[in-house]
Amino acid sequence: MVSIGINTHIAELERIDPVAFKAINTSAVTESLDHLTRSSRNEFTSEGRGADYLDSIQLSLLARSEGVMDLLGKMHPNGRNGLCPSLIICDLLAGDGYVNKVARRILGAARCPAFINSDISQFMVDRCIRDGLFAIWQSATNPFWIRDGSVDGVLMAYGTHHIPRAQRPAAVQAAARVLRPGGIFVLHDFEVGSPTARWFADVVSTHSVTPHDYPHFTAGEVLDLFAAAQFDEVTVQRITDPFVFQGRDEESVLQLLADYVVKMYGLVKLRAHTQRVLALLDEYFGIEITRTSHGEFEARIARNALVGSGRRCIG
Ligand SMILES: C[S@@+](CC[C@H](N)C(=O)[O-])C[C@H]1O[C@@H](n2cnc3c(N)ncnc32)[C@H](O)[C@@H]1O
Repeated sequence: MVSIGINTHIAELERIDPVAFKAINTSAVTESLDHLTRSSRNEFTSEGRGADYLDSIQLSLLARSEGVMDLLGKMHPNGRNGLCPSLIICDLLAGDGYVNKVARRILGAARCPAFINSDISQFMVDRCIRDGLFAIWQSATNPFWIRDGSVDGVLMAYGTHHIPRAQRPAAVQAAARVLRPGGIFVLHDFEVGSPTARWFADVVSTHSVTPHDYPHFTAGEVLDLFAAAQFDEVTVQRITDPFVFQGRDEESVLQLLADYVVKMYGLVKLRAHTQRVLALLDEYFGIEITRTSHGEFEARIARNALVGSGRRCIG
């Protein structure tokens, strides 16, 4: 993005999506980007596990779509049926625009909201832009590109634990700042002590290309963060957020599940050990194999997630 020059990037954003562009504040961007250049190194780059992570999405775009669509349904008072192109949703941990891509595939262009894909990894933002998505480079803790009160929904999901605990209040306050009054914030992560949190601590930390020592969330922490930022109608729920794969036979569907998980978590040390990966998945989550109505095999691991939501106060 920076390689193409900031003015070219801004013009490109306006061309990609004039609806989302209305929420963009171009003043002070250059100065803030200089600061970001000095402060934004993380593991989601080509040197870390960024490329492997994107490979997992190439293996199956829809593997995580049940959870994604559940989260998007929480971003409108009428649920999923209320989603439409005039809504602006800002995904503050967008990666390669995964949520945007799933929404577009499942809802179709005629119903997909306008997405602002935002990430602290320049590698991820470049990938979004390469794929024709509206994307900006910034931290969730300081979304300086976005105007006050300008978006209908803010999402932080699939990686919120990467925001250090001390910076989480700033990130939630920033979500409130960019939302229009009545707009909805959805925060998703995994619960301290849950099978997914233990999977990260025991398996990912041991076998990944990068260490994974990030504190997850408690329901109390989510409630406190939303209360401090004065959100209304706050709820905290546990949702199922599975990985699901379909294929013509049991062996190929299990192989796909193992390959996906190895790529997603950068489990380089388990790359050649499919049976070990499957045994670990079964131990932590349980693997369920069923037949679909079309006679295909479906493999599913039952992840659960913690989801907070609230509306920006109107008064
Ligand atoms: C596990 S990935 C998830 C990406 C995408 N939402 C998905 O589901 O595929 C987490 C993303 O959060 C980004 N990230 C981590 N800390 C961040 C921060 N403070 N601000 C913005 N993005 C951050 C990473 O660069 C990475 O792209």
